Amino acid sequence: MIPLILDVDTGIDDAFGLLYALSRPDARLLGVSAVAGNVNLAKAVRNTRAVLALAGRPDIPVWPGAAAPLLGHVGDASDIHGDSGLGHALLPEPAPAPVAAHAVDAFLAAARDHEGRLVLVATGPLTNIALAVARDPDLPRRLARFVVMGGAFAVGGNVTAAAEFNIWHDPEAARIVLRAFSQEGAAPTILIGLDVTRQCLLSEADLDALAATCADAPNGPALTTFLRDAARHYFDLMQRRGRPRALVMHDPLAVAVALDPSLVRTTALPVDVETRGELTRGQTIADFRGEPGRIGVALEVEASRFRADYLAAITRLAGEPDCLPQERGQ
Ligand code: RIB
Ligand code: CA
Repeated sequence: MIPLILDVDTGIDDAFGLLYALSRPDARLLGVSAVAGNVNLAKAVRNTRAVLALAGRPDIPVWPGAAAPLLGHVGDASDIHGDSGLGHALLPEPAPAPVAAHAVDAFLAAARDHEGRLVLVATGPLTNIALAVARDPDLPRRLARFVVMGGAFAVGGNVTAAAEFNIWHDPEAARIVLRAFSQEGAAPTILIGLDVTRQCLLSEADLDALAATCADAPNGPALTTFLRDAARHYFDLMQRRGRPRALVMHDPLAVAVALDPSLVRTTALPVDVETRGELTRGQTIADFRGEPGRIGVALEVEASRFRADYLAAITRLAGEPDCLPQERGQ
């Protein structure tokens, strides 16, 4: 079992990624930390707990982290994810949370408890990770792997012409994190940027077919109704922009790569972040000139294998008899 922590700003695709992680029998989700990004911290925590409960895993702890980027609040992505952060999905209010540790304390404890084995995936702004490496500069050496959904290297941005949202939301944090994970002895680090996520789409037809496949599975209707209602907000937005009714699987791809790096081809490069550009703040700059670097930038992806894997994962989670998701407390 791979010990896994997700750092999220649940949002629609964060939720899709969370469900994927829960479906993997080879991964043990130790906990989920939340950070302000798509929505405010309280909503990110609430949404994460609600999705865990939907998947029958309210036992998994949710650790609140930073309520704002290092230099103070910027805009959110509620235009994309809806005011709730989960599109049109309506989930029951989760039961009151037990007192939870702060995200940074949880990271540092888990990294020591699972020294050299813990896989950390960040699918939101990197504020929590930056605070953690400030607390423990050895954190990058204690992990087995670190995967970030973030950046745009040979393509344009999404939140601005130059920047991808997670990096744009807290570029100072991203710079701190990339420098920390570029040091000698740091865990292998992979950046899953828009270069590869934009190749990984799930269409409305895919979700409709998934709902039909899982219609008679124990958790099928609840899971697929959630996925379709959450994604419909995004589909409607894409249609208004003249684009196909399909969800870019940014965060689920990062989670999948964390558990199977062979899904992408990476190039080890020096990577830094623009923090002062009037038009380019939050842009990720990879140096392709040939200087040695330690950050694995994903430039190619096996998109069809990922899509098939994702659909099979949700089918598993729905409770199809052939394979049950991870057991509690393993
Ligand atoms: O740019 C895409 C990223 O920003 C995803 O993680 C999405 O959830 C938003 O946080
Ligand atoms: Ca996210």
